Amino acid sequence: MKKLEKQIFIFLSFFLFNHSFCLDPWYESCVSKDCGDGLSITYPFYINYLQDSSCGYPGYNLTCNNGSSILQISGNDFIVKQIDRNKRHMRLQNAAILANRAEFCSSKIKNLTLNPNRFMIDNATTTQLVFISNCSGMFSDDLERYRIRSCEKSREFVMVANDKNLRNVTDGCGGGVKIVETPVELVAGEKGSVVVDGGNYTEVAGRGFLVRWFTADCGVCERSGGRCGFNTSVHQFRCFCPDRSHSVSCKPGKYALLSNLIRLFCLIYLTERLND
Ligand SMILES: *[C@@H]1O[C@H](CO)[C@@H](O)[C@H](O)[C@H]1NC(C)=O
Ligand SMILES: *[C@@H]1O[C@H](CO)[C@@H](O)[C@H](O)[C@H]1NC(C)=O
Ligand SMILES: *[C@@H]1O[C@H](CO)[C@@H](O)[C@H](O)[C@H]1NC(C)=O
Ligand SMILES: *[C@@H]1O[C@H](CO)[C@@H](O)[C@H](O)[C@H]1NC(C)=O
Ligand SMILES: *[C@@H]1O[C@H](CO)[C@@H](O)[C@H](O)[C@H]1NC(C)=O
Ligand SMILES: *[C@@H]1O[C@H](CO)[C@@H](O)[C@H](O)[C@H]1NC(C)=O
Ligand SMILES: *[C@@H]1O[C@H](CO)[C@@H](O)[C@H](O)[C@H]1NC(C)=O
Ligand SMILES: *[C@@H]1O[C@H](CO)[C@@H](O)[C@H](O)[C@H]1NC(C)=O
Repeated sequence: MKKLEKQIFIFLSFFLFNHSFCLDPWYESCVSKDCGDGLSITYPFYINYLQDSSCGYPGYNLTCNNGSSILQISGNDFIVKQIDRNKRHMRLQNAAILANRAEFCSSKIKNLTLNPNRFMIDNATTTQLVFISNCSGMFSDDLERYRIRSCEKSREFVMVANDKNLRNVTDGCGGGVKIVETPVELVAGEKGSVVVDGGNYTEVAGRGFLVRWFTADCGVCERSGGRCGFNTSVHQFRCFCPDRSHSVSCKPGKYALLSNLIRLFCLIYLTERLND
């Protein structure tokens, strides 16, 4: 290339490819991704196979299924519907209930056990949806409304944990009764009085429920232009920045000048290589 052409090339490349040349590979790799539902996934979460595990916090891994982000906890698949990173909570829906409403039986539900160091359910806004199966006894007609009508292969019932008829149904089921629970959200005025039955449990399950999480806050790093991550080998929070990874934030100002200089030299070097 002639000298002028070379200068123009460097100048254009610097502005056009500002974001793709010579950026820190962790910074590039931890760009947000989504499963196709438009919910962008960043720290503390990461999507298996789409993002490196260093882009999230250990145990906060999601998978994509049918265009949804799925969080697996204790054998249940939960669809992540919403993530509020400022309030550090997310809304989860039990995928088994909602994916197959037409033929749903409770055998796909498992009791939820949360790792208390990772997640917490807000008890004030949440109740348990109780599924009762393997029933052998007789039931009064009043209890038939709790029957899960989509489940044809066995007689199963559903209600909330504080329903006054819970005892009647579990007693009526006999000695082999099997009980599993999954959380659902209460809305204003429902606490202590809500009735959920075989006719509307999927509607209530569709509300999902809120789960809080506890990991280092990403705000400082993000506001400085970085992407949060975690180094599992040294078990430390990292702030991946365009120039390199930092411990807390990208420290703008200092970084901006330096990294632009590095990028410029890098471009000049590449251009020289192209000439050879
Ligand atoms: C991802 O999560 C699943 C269950 O939620 C767990 O079994 C698995 O080990 C995790 N994978 C990694 C890489 O952490
Ligand atoms: C896949 O997602 C679509 C749209 O969200 C939904 O209608 C369908 O039931 C889902 N299929 C399965 C198997 O979950
Ligand atoms: C929420 O309920 C669970 C189980 O009943 C209990 O272990 C936990 O301490 C409660 N949490 C709060 C914040 O009340
Ligand atoms: C529930 O059990 C109590 C006590 O055995 C009984 O009086 C009541 O009628 C039962 N309720 C229904 C709806 O079957
Ligand atoms: C169902 O109940 C019978 C007794 O009524 C018991 O032998 C059997 O193990 C139970 N099955 C399950 C899956 O709990
Ligand atoms: C699920 O939890 C409920 C309430 O704690 C309990 O009664 C039931 O036995 C549990 N079911 C299983 C399968 O562990
Ligand atoms: C569910 O349906 C019953 C009537 O079968 C009704 O009394 C109850 O209020 C409904 N619950 C909700 C949460 O919509
Ligand atoms: C984690 O730390 C080790 C040791 O300092 C380093 O070799 C590695 O590149 C770091 N990885 C990330 C993702 O920061």
